[in-house]
Amino acid sequence: MAISAALKLPSSSSPTSTFSNPKNPPLKTIIRCRCNSSLPLKTLTTEPHPTFTSVRTFAPATVANLGPGFDFLGCAVDGLGDHVTLAVDPQVHPGHLSIHQITNSANNSVNKKLSTNPNFNCAGIAALAVMKMLDIRSVGLSLSLEKGLPLGSGLGSSAASAAAAAVAVNELFGGHLTVSDLVLAGLESESRVSGYHADNVAPSIMGGFVLIRSYDPLELIELKFPDDKDLFFVLVNPDFEAPTKKMRAALPAEVSMSHHVWNCSQAGALVASVLQGDLRGLGTALSSDRIVEPKRAPLIPGMEAVKKAAIEAGAFGCTISGSGPTAVAIIDSEERGREIGDRMVEAFMREGKLKATAMVRSLDRVGARLVSGIPL
Ligand code: HSE
Repeated sequence: MAISAALKLPSSSSPTSTFSNPKNPPLKTIIRCRCNSSLPLKTLTTEPHPTFTSVRTFAPATVANLGPGFDFLGCAVDGLGDHVTLAVDPQVHPGHLSIHQITNSANNSVNKKLSTNPNFNCAGIAALAVMKMLDIRSVGLSLSLEKGLPLGSGLGSSAASAAAAAVAVNELFGGHLTVSDLVLAGLESESRVSGYHADNVAPSIMGGFVLIRSYDPLELIELKFPDDKDLFFVLVNPDFEAPTKKMRAALPAEVSMSHHVWNCSQAGALVASVLQGDLRGLGTALSSDRIVEPKRAPLIPGMEAVKKAAIEAGAFGCTISGSGPTAVAIIDSEERGREIGDRMVEAFMREGKLKATAMVRSLDRVGARLVSGIPL
């Protein structure tokens, strides 16, 4: 049950204008911002007025870790993600947020698992964090969340909701915040849901590949993958739950020096491969994690066989997407990606007794964006 009375969005909520990109300042290669100890209480000196009565935003799915980059590397995936519609609502108490609706046409059970209390919902927590940064006191907002991602899949479902909501609030009030402010708002949400890691929410907001160089202070580095190169992700999602909290609890508290050296060198090679557009190098590095994947793969039935099947079918590399259970492989052709996906689905069934579905997607280079808005 929503903490506020159920409210309707303005009847004129159909889009009147379309945008290809948010109004956020252009991304610099390196983005530095304040430390993570607390969110900025107030970023502007005066409360901004809404510039839209309603906005609709989209934030993409993400692949976190990318093998050896546990908690510090991630990328965004095209054509898959969550939408948020956010409206100024006179029936919501000024300064408050109400979650009006959560929908998911593909899987209605998702809706029952998600709270409509904004304090216990990823989109709500991120939206409230942005409202706090902007010091919104004069208007109330109502939010509708359209889940395009399954929960607990390893595709950054919670981060996509948080990213779409953070961008929606910022856009509704004129787009004053920086990318790093929005990532901090998303981190507030992620930390309450699964842990303090930005390797989903940063790429969901920024698009492309992102390196989290530091958490305190938060420092993000955009890794530019060449525009003229094709990169396809084969994402195979088994019918299995792998909650991030549980998958994080399975990790070792300490690692050996030899594993540290190996994983660091592989993560460095992965970054170089992204920048050079070297897909084979990227795949080799993606497959190379000796610290996290060996602890998690045995917890996902069939995962080791799925990785083997992907490589045998010609994938350049394969690992667990985020904390799983989705397996991700990379390749340079969509058609070969579909063939690899079929082999991976078969392996999940044969070795793990799990039904799985495969998708082939490209890199999202845009990140969270304003889709449409009704100007005030
Ligand atoms: N880095 C996080 C983890 C990503 O692996 O736990 C979760 O999607």
